[in-house]
Amino acid sequence: DAHGAIFANVSDFPQLPAGFRFGTSTAAYQIEGAATEGGRGPSIWDTFAAQEGRILDGSSGEVACDHYHRFEEDVALMKRLGTKDYRLSLSWSRIQPTGRGPANEEGLAFYDRLIDTLVENGIAPMVTLYHWDLPQALEDDGGWLNRETVDCFAAYAAIVAERFADRVAHWIPINEPNVASFLGYAVGTHAPGRTLLFDSLWVSHHMLLGHGRAIIELRRHGATSVGCANNHAPVWPASDDDADVGASKLFDALWNGMFLEPMLLGRYPADLMPLLDGLPETGDMATIRQPLDFYGVNYYNPMKVAAAAEDAEMPFVFRDVLGYPITDRGWPVVPDALREWLIMFRARYRAALPPIVITESGAAYNVEPDESGVVDDQLRIDYLDAHIRAVATAIERGVDVRGYFCWSLMDNFEWAEGLTQRYGLVHVDFETLVRTPKKSFEWYSSVIAAQQPVE
Ligand code: BG6
Repeated sequence: DAHGAIFANVSDFPQLPAGFRFGTSTAAYQIEGAATEGGRGPSIWDTFAAQEGRILDGSSGEVACDHYHRFEEDVALMKRLGTKDYRLSLSWSRIQPTGRGPANEEGLAFYDRLIDTLVENGIAPMVTLYHWDLPQALEDDGGWLNRETVDCFAAYAAIVAERFADRVAHWIPINEPNVASFLGYAVGTHAPGRTLLFDSLWVSHHMLLGHGRAIIELRRHGATSVGCANNHAPVWPASDDDADVGASKLFDALWNGMFLEPMLLGRYPADLMPLLDGLPETGDMATIRQPLDFYGVNYYNPMKVAAAAEDAEMPFVFRDVLGYPITDRGWPVVPDALREWLIMFRARYRAALPPIVITESGAAYNVEPDESGVVDDQLRIDYLDAHIRAVATAIERGVDVRGYFCWSLMDNFEWAEGLTQRYGLVHVDFETLVRTPKKSFEWYSSVIAAQQPVE
């Protein structure tokens, strides 16, 4: 059994440093539902999900987990879990229905209620401003290809910080700008479904600029702890051939370096300069490179890359990472790659690197309740166990990691996968919307309870 090697055992679970934050993560479009309530305007995900063939099971986030109406129950679950931190995102089009102009008071009031409920229950919110749900009206004007979207994003950041920074300490402007630009604008498997290939690099640049501009506004309006949530994947060449090694280096620069180097060092990776003709405008790099209080890493798996055929649209192709167990999503389970990535990251960026937080880590295992209602998701326990241990080892080797946020609190709308992939510690029945904590919920709870209390 390939999973034997990473079998979970709470009794010998490592102690993380005092004050280490254990949390869970979600995103607005994936859980809220209530897509037309409270004055919310449409986002690119409403539009995209309504298009034939875009979502695997034809579902959408129209209802999702109905968190909009059930958030009190969900916060009670977090409290029972014992997590004192929770990462959520705000729906921009709930707050500004067209992405511009005055705030919609009903939208702000919903997040007031949610944030107050979290705080009353001793749970610190970590708020992401943008987890992929651009107001549709902005997309109609060019979306992230249009530099004006950056101005709108900065104005939105000012509105939310002004309202919530008295209760929210931790802020993240944009979730995974690499995934949002690559899947959304380069290959089109995510909203808005555009296939611009390398022309989407302008989208990446504008998202980076949005990151910097939002941080300036967040701080100006009282935010005290600001970071990022970048998806990082170790990129492995498919073979030792020069062509495969070259292709994997290029993809690594596009996937990892293109976002972390501007944020940390204020420059694009040298390998990308030939592709970035005309970028960036003078001054943009200084705006992008804002001091960060924490660096959020979303980690799922390594990727394997080979050189593409001469006439291909992109110079690289993806290959399966073989020799490891896979999740129900088909993604390889490689906790060692997380440990190695963290150690490499620190070695390479040292002084430029703020403390790290794992802002997402988790796996899809599609286990349903048995006859007695038990959701026995041992494979998720094994996954989380191995990945938290990988983080603990990296910390022992000198990497400053301050927290681990499990993706996800509950099963939710998994973008192009619809409702077919279950990442939650809590099972959600999408017919009845009944929540059932899984075995992994009890396990995570006991791991947290076994940590030393902060003096
Ligand atoms: C991360 C996203 O990249 O992957 C999450 O930040 C997402 O929002 C997670 O849920 C899982 O990906 P997928 O494609 O299985 O939904």
